[in-house]
Amino acid sequence: MAVNHRELSWDDISLTNKLLGSGNFGEVRKGTVNLDGERIPSAIKVLKRGADEAARQDFQQEVDIMRHAGYHPNIINLLGTCEHQGNVVRVHRQQYMALEMAGNGDLKNYLRKSRVLEVKDPAYANTRQTVSTVSSLSPVQLLRIACDVATGMEHLSSKDVIHRDLAARNVLLTDSLIAKVADFGLSRGEGIYEQTSKKAVPFRSTALEALSRRIYTTQSDVWSFGILLWEIVTLGGTPYSGMNSRTLLRSLREGYRLPKPRNCDEDLYVYFSLLPTCVL
Ligand code: ADE
Repeated sequence: MAVNHRELSWDDISLTNKLLGSGNFGEVRKGTVNLDGERIPSAIKVLKRGADEAARQDFQQEVDIMRHAGYHPNIINLLGTCEHQGNVVRVHRQQYMALEMAGNGDLKNYLRKSRVLEVKDPAYANTRQTVSTVSSLSPVQLLRIACDVATGMEHLSSKDVIHRDLAARNVLLTDSLIAKVADFGLSRGEGIYEQTSKKAVPFRSTALEALSRRIYTTQSDVWSFGILLWEIVTLGGTPYSGMNSRTLLRSLREGYRLPKPRNCDEDLYVYFSLLPTCVL
């Protein structure tokens, strides 16, 4: 359902105890919002009471970016925002961000849960070589998810939004397995963004030029999309597992790239691995 963001009144929001996620900002709880008399399931991000000024600014920035991005079926949409209208006079009122709900949670977990062991030849069921990990999702479903993310990211780039934190953990799946790009906490609404603060960088999915020079563009989001494809093919694997940020940066500078996963088709790997190198 396409819904334009709106200011909600406190009575429009109902929160449950079900925790969907948490972070420095506070937490995300399952709930509903009342939109024109209809109760819509929602993931409600709550800025914690004692949040410092930086966390407040980040929260507001995320709201502004999502408003600017507008509605798209492959993006988690902002349903509305609300300030708690309690009786208590506080310097800062509690802030709420009502997001579209995605019932199947994040892609990384979903891919991991989809792993099943396949025994190729039951006659040799005890030997390791005949057992491989496959997904309960079909190749078409996996490709569909990748296409959904690409479509959502294309929309963001058309609005000059740079996501800066695209990874499987930040893609959510609806009940009908539509993939939606989420978590705009690091996003910026400029065609090119130079980070000046010393915030932590999600280094496993960040482009080389962003790691080296802190320059973020749509092209650096494309690099992250390449890593996300690797995460899909490995069913939620950890990119460059065992490497720390320093070793990874050195290796990437020397030309090292993620190797082809065992279950990945040669043509698919060559095609995907061309994506990140053409933006360098
Ligand atoms: N966790 C964080 N945001 C969410 C959302 N929009 N839907 C489901 N789970 C979430």
